[in-house]
Amino acid sequence: MSRHIGVLTSGGDCPGLNAAIRGLGKSCIKNSIEVTGFLDGFRGVAFDRSMKLKKEHLTGLLTDGGTILGTSRDKPHKMPVGGKNMNMISSVVETYQRHHLDALVCIGGGGTQKNALLLKKAGLNILTLPKTIDNDIYGTDVSFGFDTAVGIATEAIDRLHSTATSHHRNIIVETMGHRAGWLALGAGTAGGADVVLIPEIPYSIEKVVEAIRIRRADGKRFSIIAVAEGAISIEDKILIDQLLAQKKAATSKSKAEKFSGSLEEFHRQHVSHTVRLTDKITELTGQESRLTILGHLQRGGSPSAADRLLATRLGAAAAELIAENRFGFMVAIQGDSCAPVPLEDVAGRKKLVPHDHQLVCAARLVGTSFGA
Ligand code: F6P
Repeated sequence: MSRHIGVLTSGGDCPGLNAAIRGLGKSCIKNSIEVTGFLDGFRGVAFDRSMKLKKEHLTGLLTDGGTILGTSRDKPHKMPVGGKNMNMISSVVETYQRHHLDALVCIGGGGTQKNALLLKKAGLNILTLPKTIDNDIYGTDVSFGFDTAVGIATEAIDRLHSTATSHHRNIIVETMGHRAGWLALGAGTAGGADVVLIPEIPYSIEKVVEAIRIRRADGKRFSIIAVAEGAISIEDKILIDQLLAQKKAATSKSKAEKFSGSLEEFHRQHVSHTVRLTDKITELTGQESRLTILGHLQRGGSPSAADRLLATRLGAAAAELIAENRFGFMVAIQGDSCAPVPLEDVAGRKKLVPHDHQLVCAARLVGTSFGA
């Protein structure tokens, strides 16, 4: 009997999704495995919206940005339906059974790994592939999308240099990365930013200003400050730690919810953090500063060669696991190989930048300030 799998892309899009769909799809078809693509992430499975992926759908995809399947941040157990969050896991299971699927491949980031584990627990054969420009998925050395985003942000920093030099300004450039600093660290170091601020190393504004002053005293009349969107000051870190400790020690559900609410409020306010930081730098240095927020530019367009290769390898490796009937894993990159990592080991964990990461040490040695 011929075999049949489903595939979906979930979470924020990133360059390389189409290359992964192609890698998986072509390798499956070669092994006589039928492929159905579900639309807009887990929503497509919950509401049974899909397209058959034939050879002709998979050609010409390698270089395209975005995802032909569409994506969403919808979770199977909390899906907005008619203004309410509904648990749609049983609908997902029904769709899986209706299509007589042998497996469902979920291509996504950290949230997708958690959702995929829920579906595994509901009895489905699941595999996942790690994608995200944030590079924060636990258990894999790297995720596709990251290399392209580092390239885009690096080029932006290169371009900001000439305008910063001409006007003798400080330019603050905000990268994405969610609550991890990989993207700011990568692009900041590759672009030669003078200060790099990442969430893992809470900064002191005085140290940031001192780094700019030292450059001025050295005759350098401009500075580039690369800031991860999740970067936090030492004061922010103390506040977050307090709220987390209070939440943990809460004696009732309602008290714990109160602290969770305060944490959520902190993160909502944090969205405009670099605007406030730019004002502070202007005020404390007495020099003109400008802010550039790179935003979704970092996620758009064609994947880099490295991401095309990564996505192709991961997609093909997933097809091999399917052929071997091995499920319940994220296909990770470990060293030179693709390795299956149990979803239980990945879900709910984050890969953050270690303080002593080689790139942090190298950046410090070449004079980059981390504001700490
Ligand atoms: O996870 C990828 C990412 O681009 C993060 O870096 C960023 O915080 C988030 O997605 C933005 O999400 P959205 O596109 O939903 O605004």
